Amino acid sequence: MIRAAILTVSDRCANGEQEDRSAPVLVEILSAHGFEIAGQALVPDEQDVIARELVRLCGESRCDVVFTTGGTGLGPRDVTPEATCSVCDRLVPGLGELMRAESLKRTQNAVLSRGTAGLRGSTLIINLPGSPKAVRECLDVILDTLPHAVEMMRGGGH
Ligand code: MTE
Repeated sequence: MIRAAILTVSDRCANGEQEDRSAPVLVEILSAHGFEIAGQALVPDEQDVIARELVRLCGESRCDVVFTTGGTGLGPRDVTPEATCSVCDRLVPGLGELMRAESLKRTQNAVLSRGTAGLRGSTLIINLPGSPKAVRECLDVILDTLPHAVEMMRGGGH
């Protein structure tokens, strides 16, 4: 079983102005695909706070994959990819590239997500855009790749 954690990155959700509608979509889809949800958190768009929470989720929750949602765009406070890069040992740019390429078939705005992915130790951190619709579309593109990715991360063959 793949252990997953979810980190919502949003000022408005963190200060109670808006309901977090993206994390429940992640829980729904990941659970339906047999993932165990090992941790969940919500933080504002602050690079050091995001980085600290990513470190905690990777460590304490012993997750295979941490999904972030939100903060990948061009807004002045969108810093999720920077926080992700700051805690990763190795980047996995192909996952972001794949999500953008496939999402472009649905919306030109796909190019406005700067989301990336990377490994912190044996945990894969994957950035998703913030809207529930984008979460569904992007997860749909990468889910089939994840069992093999996790197998490789655990030292399994290619
Ligand atoms: N990707 C998909 N598949 N579907 C979408 O609707 N929205 C885009 C883009 N990626 C979108 C998408 C938009 S409008 C933005 S602004 C960026 O993701 C960044 O979103 P974020 O800042 O919430 O992370």
